[in-house]
Amino acid sequence: MKKPVLLLLMIAIISGSSIAIFNAEANNETTVSAINLPDDPADAKFPKGAKIYKEKCVACHQTTGLGVPNAFPPLKDADYLFADKKRAVRQVLNGNNTPITVNGVTYTIPMPPQVDTHEDAVAVINYVLNAWGNNGGTIKLDDVKDIEIIR
Ligand code: HEC
Repeated sequence: MKKPVLLLLMIAIISGSSIAIFNAEANNETTVSAINLPDDPADAKFPKGAKIYKEKCVACHQTTGLGVPNAFPPLKDADYLFADKKRAVRQVLNGNNTPITVNGVTYTIPMPPQVDTHEDAVAVINYVLNAWGNNGGTIKLDDVKDIEIIR
């Protein structure tokens, strides 16, 4: 009678502790992946643009800058963005409701206007041109002053 009870007890202890180990591993993985995500250097270089991005753009274009497939286009490695910086400034000032093609994919959902000043538009576009490993250069306020704000 004694042996089966002891055996059951041992199984209970072993399975219990293996669950504990599994949980500890799962927790460690979460911690490690959080540590492995480095701060984007663009956050320190373009703090105003980073703040605007996190407030206004992140819902659609995502923290990764990858957007949402077939709905919101990527800004990371986006040929459309790099091709015309001034057009990108116009896009955040006035929005756009004509279909556009980014990296070979056509997007048809309109983007509403996002910012109200040329300064904010330049700040956030300079941020996205350089976030997520982008190497898109920058645009100056002087280059976009003639863009009319349409409301
Ligand atoms: C409500 C969702 C939404 C928000 C918020 C939003 N966008 Fe967009 N964005 C879109 C959509 C949809 C398109 C494609 C629309 C089109 O032009 O046809 C787009 C296109 C773009 C483009 C041109 C395409 C590309 O990938 O280069 C840029 C640049 C851009 N957005 C930047 C921004 C920035 C910067 C912000 C924040 C200031 C922002 N967007 C906020 C939905 C959004």
